[in-house]
Amino acid sequence: MYDSRTGTTKGAAEEMVRKAVAAGHEATAVTVAAANAAEVSAADAVCIGSWVEGLFFIRQHATAATMRFIDELAFDGTPAAVFCTYKTAVGKTLATMARALEARGARVTGRLKSRGPIAGAGFDAWLESLPAKAMPPT
Ligand SMILES: Cc1cc2nc3c(=O)[nH]c(=O)nc-3n(C[C@H](O)[C@H](O)[C@H](O)COP(=O)(O)O)c2cc1C
Repeated sequence: MYDSRTGTTKGAAEEMVRKAVAAGHEATAVTVAAANAAEVSAADAVCIGSWVEGLFFIRQHATAATMRFIDELAFDGTPAAVFCTYKTAVGKTLATMARALEARGARVTGRLKSRGPIAGAGFDAWLESLPAKAMPPT
């Protein structure tokens, strides 16, 4: 799930989905406005991203829509990652998003940032840390 104003965060989310699908997972990129909180809460893993809003050098934060969406979720130990796209500095953006997600029961194991429409450094490692999709019984 992502919030994007001019497409950068959307591009980053879409690249992450391509990587997740290539690794054998089922994954979709949906805006926080369109996402269904119950469906997201039932996912095996989630990654939530926002563009960084602030005064460029101070008071950076995720968008209000992103934080509102996080507050609608309810997890029971689901592995999660937070990500943001930015230009100059992210400040406490990722820490605040992670804390909010953990308050909703997620286990935040990835914190990623990028300066363009690309997956942040560490995304591949986060993906590899996820449990493989359960195989059907033989
Ligand atoms: C109103 C506004 C405030 C911003 N504040 C910050 C900031 O405090 N720090 C920063 O690094 N980037 C800041 N940016 C840059 C965006 O976070 C960055 O360009 C982002 O990748 C845009 O994502 P999007 O294309 O998905 O909307 C700001 C952009 C806007 C429009």
